[in-house]
Amino acid sequence: MPGPDGISTLAQLKVRTMRCRECPIGEFATQSVVGEGPKQAPLMLVGEQPGDKEDLAGHPFVGPAGGLLDRALEQIGIARDRVFVTNAVKHFKFELRGKRRIHKSPTQREAAACLHWLEDEIALVKPLALVALGSTAARSLLGRPVPVMAERGRWLAREDGLQVLVTLHPSALLRVPPGDRDQAFAQFARDLAQAKKLL
Ligand code: URA
Repeated sequence: MPGPDGISTLAQLKVRTMRCRECPIGEFATQSVVGEGPKQAPLMLVGEQPGDKEDLAGHPFVGPAGGLLDRALEQIGIARDRVFVTNAVKHFKFELRGKRRIHKSPTQREAAACLHWLEDEIALVKPLALVALGSTAARSLLGRPVPVMAERGRWLAREDGLQVLVTLHPSALLRVPPGDRDQAFAQFARDLAQAKKLL
């Protein structure tokens, strides 16, 4: 089944999302960032939106949150190059403070406007299952608000039958007090490990 925009390659998705002005975020970002990974990856990991580093590099999860994600995947024996990694929102939303660009979460309206591009990626890659990294991704993928801390580590079904494993966003680990960080990281890795049987 083709996706909502009849897109047949990621290169096309990049071109179309670069031009997208269906919400105000795109105008201020450097570029759109679309997903990366094998074309027929069995598992698709979905984050919130590109961060500062991703916006400049044009690749998803290459900054600090990406480093934590990579470390968790490595720890549980999932090779990052076997999974498809993307975001619910394709442009970086930020607030300028002096020269610094501070991440701002997308509104529900902005995430909803971007959803059809994410559905294009799902239609292209046809993963066996999805992983929602955080509440923005979970809401986009499941079409309803999801209490992530209550549902983490569980598989929830989409209307199309695709299963979504819910966990928190790796950047949440960066906000945990240092003394609790190892335990929080271990729990995040345990959540992700539920998806390993698909690989
Ligand atoms: N956070 C995300 O949700 N996605 C990225 O690509 C980087 C940081």
